[in-house]
Amino acid sequence: MDLNLKGKTVLVTGASSGIGLAAAQLFAQEGCFVIAGYRSNSDAAKSLLRKISDGGGDGIAVHLDLGNMTSIQNCVATITARVRTLDAVVFNAAFLKITPFDEIGEDEWDETFNVNLKGNFFLLRALAPHITDGGAAVFVASVAGQMGAPGHAHYAAAKAGIINLMKSAAKRYASAIRVNCVAPGVTLTPLGADAIKHADPNYAQRMLLSRRYAEPNEVAKVIVFLASPAASFIYGATIDANGGRELR
Ligand SMILES: NC(=O)c1ccc[n+]([C@@H]2O[C@H](COP(=O)([O-])OP(=O)(O)OC[C@H]3O[C@@H](n4cnc5c(N)ncnc54)[C@H](OP(=O)(O)O)[C@@H]3O)[C@@H](O)[C@H]2O)c1
Repeated sequence: MDLNLKGKTVLVTGASSGIGLAAAQLFAQEGCFVIAGYRSNSDAAKSLLRKISDGGGDGIAVHLDLGNMTSIQNCVATITARVRTLDAVVFNAAFLKITPFDEIGEDEWDETFNVNLKGNFFLLRALAPHITDGGAAVFVASVAGQMGAPGHAHYAAAKAGIINLMKSAAKRYASAIRVNCVAPGVTLTPLGADAIKHADPNYAQRMLLSRRYAEPNEVAKVIVFLASPAASFIYGATIDANGGRELR
């Protein structure tokens, strides 16, 4: 199947690690110009761009801190100075702090919501006018946002917010942009490793039909599909990539 992504321009936030990194590489393999968002790991972003260039592709890295409104504005200014339009944006970046329900403080709650939810809203609003008609936005939520997670209730609530924000955005932009969401289960990335460290060691065996955790690439493929014209009739959907979590 042709995903029809050749020559498209795609922004992936959180492209310096994990699922975002895998998605950025897949987009490049499909012939996209990749704008790779990173926050702290500029070396990983540079190394990604070298890999893309070695593979015959092209892209740029852009700094973005979703917890900082000025950084969001600067990121949008950098992007719009460099490219005329975007064909797809992947709202992937997030962080996870594992803190028991009864120990989450106000600052940690606010930081989680600022980065994982509020920043994505304002980034979407600022970028939407620059996304081409027929383009796509893909949010990355989490199974935690669907089922709750007492070990990281703030993260789970923000991710539930992402699923709902995606639906509002799908309605708001329906005439021009398809907006969708992928909800991964535990995935083998630095963020996922932290979750695994705090989980029951038999969690995958016990709770997942897959009996194993996801590789970043397995989630990235869903993202790339949703961002592509191949998903032309999918609007406002949340696609689970969780190894069958709810069925066990
Ligand atoms: N891994 C899992 O088990 C899992 C499960 C469900 C959902 N998810 C979701 O999947 C997405 C990707 O997660 P991942 O597992 O790939 O995580 P990861 O490997 O830890 O990567 C997180 C990425 O987000 C960036 N980031 C962190 N804080 C940021 C901020 N304030 N502003 C902008 N960028 C920021 C990081 O940039 P720097 O490294 O440059 O700082 C990094 O590129 C997230 O939305 C996560 O919630 C993951």
